[in-house]
Amino acid sequence: MSTDPIAASQLLDRVLVLEMVRVTEAAAIAAAKLIGRGDEKAADAAAVEAMRAAFNELDFDGTVVIGEGERDEAPMLYIGEKVGRGTGPKIDIALDPLEGTTICATGGPNSLAVLAIAEEGCLLNAPDVYMDKLAIGPGYPKGLVSLDQSPTERVEAFAKAKGVAPSEITVLVLDRPRHEKMIAELRALGTGIYLIPDGDVAGVISVTNPDTTIDMYMGSGGAPEGVLAAAALACVGGQFQGRLLFRNDDERVRAAKWGVTDLNRIYELEDLVKGDAIFAATGVTAGSLLDGVKRRRDGVLTTESVVMRASSGTIRWVKGEHHKRG
Ligand code: FBP
Repeated sequence: MSTDPIAASQLLDRVLVLEMVRVTEAAAIAAAKLIGRGDEKAADAAAVEAMRAAFNELDFDGTVVIGEGERDEAPMLYIGEKVGRGTGPKIDIALDPLEGTTICATGGPNSLAVLAIAEEGCLLNAPDVYMDKLAIGPGYPKGLVSLDQSPTERVEAFAKAKGVAPSEITVLVLDRPRHEKMIAELRALGTGIYLIPDGDVAGVISVTNPDTTIDMYMGSGGAPEGVLAAAALACVGGQFQGRLLFRNDDERVRAAKWGVTDLNRIYELEDLVKGDAIFAATGVTAGSLLDGVKRRRDGVLTTESVVMRASSGTIRWVKGEHHKRG
C-alpha cells in the first residue's frame, strides 16, 4: 500500500474513523469491569492492554506520541511504541486508555477511553507536565480570550461578546487547591464556577455542547489531556489555548528532550493539532459527553462512543451492543 500523504488522508477518512471506535470501545469495556473497585492501577492496566490489542489488529503503521509515559516507566503504549500491523500509512497517536482513573475507581462521572490520531508529525509531542488551559465553544471571534489575560478579563470579554453580564457566565474548573485564587477572583465577579474532581478532557469538550451550559474552561491539568481535548475541538469547533507549566528542573529538562525551546509559549489549537485529525472516545462511566458502559439484564454490554474528524467536521455518535458469542 502506498504511504503518500493523500493515501494516508483517505485512509483516515474511509477506514480508520470507525476502527477508532472499536479501539476505544475495547478499552472502555475492559476498564468498566473495574468501575467502583477502588483500584486505579488495575482499571488503567486493563484499559491499556485492551487498547493495545485492538490497535494491533489494524492495518496501519502507528506510533504513540502521547501515551502511558516514557518507555522505562510504562510497559505498554509508551511514547514511541509502534502499534498496528506496520502496513499502510504512518499515523501518530495520542491516547489515554482510561482518562479519569480515580473517577473510574470511585464510580464518578466522565471517565473515558480516548484517543486522537493524525498524520505523522501533526500532534504536539507534549511532555507529561501540567498545561494551563483555556477553552471556549464555537461562534466567537478568534482571540476573544487569551491565557495572557487575567481570569476576570477573560470572563468580561466573553460576557460582552455573548451579550450578558459576567455574573451570567459559567466556568468549569478542576477542583484543586492550585485554583483557589482564580476561583475566588471569578466568584467575586459573580461568575458561576462548576468544579470537577477529575477528567478535564470531557471538561474542555463540554464548552462546545450548549446543553452543558458551560461557557468556558480554565485552569491547569495534564498537558497530554490538553492535546487530546484540542483534537476534539479541532473537529467540533471552538477555541483552545495551552501553555506548558514546569514545576522543577527535571520537567524543564524533559521538555527540552521533547523539543520544547520556548518554555512560556502559548500554543494555539493549530500548534497542538495540525491538519486532519480524528478524535474518538467511549464513555467508561456516564458523564456530560457520553453514557458509560452498561450491562443489561440479558448480559449484553452497551457502549456509547463519539468519533469526529477535523477535515470534514463530521461527528458520529455510535451506540454499541456487545453480545457474548461462543
Ligand atoms: P488520570 O486519568 O491520569 O487520573 O488523569 C485525571 C485528570 O483529572 C486529568 O483529566 C487532568 O488533566 C489531570 O488528572 C489533572 O492532574 P492533577 O490530578 O494532578 O491535578
